[in-house]
Amino acid sequence: MINNLDIPKPEKRLRRLRVNDTMRRFVRETTLSVNDLIYPIFVEENTNERAEIASMPGVFRETEETLVDKVKECDTAGIPAIILFGVSKHKDAIGSDSMHRNGLLHRMIKISKEAAPNILVIADVCFCEYTDHGHCGPLNDDSTDVDNDRTLENLAIQAVNCAEAGADIIAPSGMMDGGIEAIRAGLDQSGFKNLPIMAYSSKFASGFYGPFRDAAGCSLGGSQGPKDRKTYQMDPANAREALRETEQDILEGADMVMVKPGMPYLDIIRDVKDTFQMPTFAYNVSGEYAMIKFAAQAGAIDHDVAMMESLMCFKRAGADGILTYFALEAAQLLNS
Ligand code: PBG
Repeated sequence: MINNLDIPKPEKRLRRLRVNDTMRRFVRETTLSVNDLIYPIFVEENTNERAEIASMPGVFRETEETLVDKVKECDTAGIPAIILFGVSKHKDAIGSDSMHRNGLLHRMIKISKEAAPNILVIADVCFCEYTDHGHCGPLNDDSTDVDNDRTLENLAIQAVNCAEAGADIIAPSGMMDGGIEAIRAGLDQSGFKNLPIMAYSSKFASGFYGPFRDAAGCSLGGSQGPKDRKTYQMDPANAREALRETEQDILEGADMVMVKPGMPYLDIIRDVKDTFQMPTFAYNVSGEYAMIKFAAQAGAIDHDVAMMESLMCFKRAGADGILTYFALEAAQLLNS
């Protein structure tokens, strides 16, 4: 046995502030509340029954009827905002259903506003859920890529359609150059000067969107167009470019900015928040949700602890709010 060591006693005792729950609560730097949560909802048309998404336990494709109950449930739980995703049965090359007043996108916004007038309805403005090839805009003539500039006017039309349906926030997620400017112009010219834009400013070409693409039926790999979204979504290796994307969106008129995905990109959230001091949101995406759900199902982690910890860490990283499939479950815990 070694017995002649003279180990210095610590001068600073940081554990003093961790002695019990009250003390920990007293010195806590970050808070999480239901006000921070945004719940994404999938809505499928022409179906009679809501169906659970296999890769996202606890998340359903709602019908236009069950959407009413879901929105009310969020409202009752105190969740301030929802974001809607359509599962369309009327797809074509440009996603025209999303530009029509009688299309799914318009209807689901209207239904949600009628169900709970005070909840903020965020319209995800993009074409991938409505195009037959699954890309976020029309393809160019030889189908090798999404045609950026042809997408712009359509984005403005889709955004105005959402605004007319009653959307409270327009959230373009397609990563098209000039998209925010196009939408701002369209809204302003149509009497919606006061409608804010939450831009998916730095959206990365991520492997964590897998379950979403099952859920929304917008997987790629058909015969038309590229097999991935890497010509418009960002390279996960790039942090400085995320700042340039965000700056550009702010210059074009974004009122709020977003980083997506969430958990592997907390550094980007911190950079964006510190650099621009804008209302900054994080998307805790489908693959992140699935990881916690399936790890918990396998007994590897405690579900509620991992869920609340990850949501708190978004706030600590600088997020002002979190789009998360955990919103309802987290709200229940926060309200109890
Ligand atoms: C498409 C869109 C995607 C997500 C939100 N909007 C998928 C994609 O870009 O392929 C992903 C959300 C998630 O994974 O939870 N505009």
